[in-house]
Amino acid sequence: MPPLAMPRNPPEDPIKSHPTRAEQLDILADLVADRAGAGDHVLDLGIGTGYVAGLILDRAPGIDLTGIDLKAESLDAARTALAGRVKSLDLVEGNLENLGDLAVPEGPYRAIYTVLTFHDLPDEAKAAVIRWSAERLAPGGALLILDRIRLHRPALFPLQVALWNRIERVYGSAMRSAPDFDSYLADMGERNRPARFEDYFEWLEDAGLAPGCLHLHGNIALFAGMRAPAGG
Ligand SMILES: C[S@@+](CC[C@H](N)C(=O)[O-])C[C@H]1O[C@@H](n2cnc3c(N)ncnc32)[C@H](O)[C@@H]1O
Repeated sequence: MPPLAMPRNPPEDPIKSHPTRAEQLDILADLVADRAGAGDHVLDLGIGTGYVAGLILDRAPGIDLTGIDLKAESLDAARTALAGRVKSLDLVEGNLENLGDLAVPEGPYRAIYTVLTFHDLPDEAKAAVIRWSAERLAPGGALLILDRIRLHRPALFPLQVALWNRIERVYGSAMRSAPDFDSYLADMGERNRPARFEDYFEWLEDAGLAPGCLHLHGNIALFAGMRAPAGG
């Protein structure tokens, strides 16, 4: 098999400034397509304008897709972007912090994924969304979470800075950075509250899923929680 070229962020990606995003989305899209084929149901938590969903539909055009987002205007853009590319599309305006009010099909879903949305939620809501998702996964289904993680050990901060600098040198654009650990912490707020790496393992395991980290670059991690196969 010929070697794969490193994916590059295409201009239409709404978050294209993120230097390692293309590669991480390429991995996530491949993993979803590996789990879900024609007729399987897939759920996107925080679908935004549908960019990530489009990458998945390129690989798995026969799936049924449900997407949730807070913003009606993003859902309208997703509807336009995904029109004609998906067997069935269900876009739901809703808040992941109010799971009881979400009007989404019960599933089961072969894959549930979320990209750069969890850092918008408080930690209790992240854990609740993981539990809620686990209850809706089909046997053998996967929950995939791609998001920033929070550095919480000050001693590691200089290494993190070195990593950010390397990413800037190699990719030509920078990830979120900070001059010192206190400034890094001070930048955490309402719309920027990534969880700690360790928390994801605990939350996934508590929800009955087998947890793993499949990719980590800089401060962006791709976590997986696998539901056991039927009879497994
Ligand atoms: C940074 S964007 C990422 C969009 C898309 N996943 C992507 O990677 O291109 C985060 C998305 O999550 C949505 N979002 C944030 N908090 C949410 C919540 N509590 N419930 C539902 N959607 C939420 C936002 O409206 C936004 O569309």
